Amino acid sequence: MNEAMPFFMGLRDVGLFVRSARTDARLNQLRSTQGAAAALEAVYAANPDPWAAGSPHYRYQRRKYEVLASRLPPRRFHHALDLGCGLGLLSRHLAAHADSVLGVDVAPTAIARARVQHADVPNLAFETHNIMALPSSLDGRFDLIMIADVLYYLFPLDDAALKTLSRRIAQLLSPGGICMLVNHYFFAFDSESRRSRRIHDAFIWSSDFTLDSEYRRPFYLVTQLSGISERVTQPHKNNYATRP
Ligand SMILES: C[S@@+](CC[C@H](N)C(=O)[O-])C[C@H]1O[C@@H](n2cnc3c(N)ncnc32)[C@H](O)[C@@H]1O
Repeated sequence: MNEAMPFFMGLRDVGLFVRSARTDARLNQLRSTQGAAAALEAVYAANPDPWAAGSPHYRYQRRKYEVLASRLPPRRFHHALDLGCGLGLLSRHLAAHADSVLGVDVAPTAIARARVQHADVPNLAFETHNIMALPSSLDGRFDLIMIADVLYYLFPLDDAALKTLSRRIAQLLSPGGICMLVNHYFFAFDSESRRSRRIHDAFIWSSDFTLDSEYRRPFYLVTQLSGISERVTQPHKNNYATRP
């Protein structure tokens, strides 16, 4: 399969986008009455796989996980963290590249299913946590953090929230650790892509990260960042020389 293939992996994959859009619409309805965390738990309780991530009918998501794993820097990671892991399918791919992987999600039902589905992978564990309130016991532990298609579910996602969040995530990294951000991206001018761009830029311009690389695939954007552990002595190290 050509990675640069500009359209859906197959016509069937249109169905995946329709199902995901339905789940997102349902989430929006529930969020206003129940709050974000309870809404996410409710969609998992109502549907075994709300974003059809593991459905054998669609190739797009499976292919995406393969690309993300294959584009990791060629090194063995010690401890990887998959934030907003859902059913743990991407966590499972990461387990081939790290000594241990921890998948974390706010929805207890997702975590319970992930534990059952991946019980055969000995270096993979799952815990229920909210990204907005991660325990300090996780600080400084991870040399790889993956955050795939999660941050746009956080509300409110204004500049102040993004700044707080990027700082908190940087605190989870061990020295030399990297963070991979993955979010939906279609065209530079559609509103969802603009939101993804804003999220990634907030991390890129944070004084806690430096940009390593970025690539796009249909229909997602991937940004790799390194944590700046020497915060006191290092000036801002982002690779973009000037900020518009
Ligand atoms: C579209 S799914 C993506 C799942 C997985 N990252 C993947 O790529 O297959 C979004 C996931 O983010 C989780 N999530 C959203 N907000 C969260 C939060 N505040 N804390 C932890 N997980 C969260 C949801 O429960 C859901 O499982």
